[in-house]
Amino acid sequence: MLIAVPDLLDAATLTRVRALVDAGPWADGNATSGHQSALAKRNEQLPEDSAAAREAGGIVLDALAAAPLFVAAALPLKVFPPLFSRYAGGDAFGTHVDNAIRIRRGSDFRIRSDLSATLFLEDPAAYDGGELVIEDRFGERAVKLPAGHMVLYPATSLHRVASVTHGVRTACFFWVQSMVRDEARRRTLFDLDGAVQDVAGRSGHDDPAAIALTGVYHNLLRMWGEA
Ligand code: NI
Repeated sequence: MLIAVPDLLDAATLTRVRALVDAGPWADGNATSGHQSALAKRNEQLPEDSAAAREAGGIVLDALAAAPLFVAAALPLKVFPPLFSRYAGGDAFGTHVDNAIRIRRGSDFRIRSDLSATLFLEDPAAYDGGELVIEDRFGERAVKLPAGHMVLYPATSLHRVASVTHGVRTACFFWVQSMVRDEARRRTLFDLDGAVQDVAGRSGHDDPAAIALTGVYHNLLRMWGEA
């Protein structure tokens, strides 16, 4: 399941994040790759311990916590501190799957990557190429969203970043460990959550069906979730 989260960052927040990121100490992106992905990756990243990445990442984490669609879709248990990349001059990232376990360098923070996320930080008209191409059961999906919008996709997916042939693609990326590890269960809970909101919106939160369905939602989450 691919989920677009529109306007995760509003215009003012996007401007703050870009100011921090643009002034950051960019370095070769292979510093953060696993072995397989290092073979295929050509880009720049902000070092994860840099003040720029930490401060901008904190702003992104605050925005995630305030985004109901992200919370409903990801059911986040842990979020990896956001990282920042940029691609220019033919940079690309060939087909790969993200590492299953991510450890933050110099700390004991580790997560299992259930979902991958890309938050676009540049106007798509400002660069050519740079699509995030995700392979799923239905074929390939090319994703290139407006600045401030985010896409969530299963970390199990093969994916790549198409070559950036003009301009600069600046983006934020990170991983989420979900309370619900299994994608089909997560999807079921997301669909049920949407249906509950729909019923409650039309009939009121005290409607017996809305209350009963909310109970089913929480009982499934209790069965499938880890806290
Ligand atoms: Ni990746």
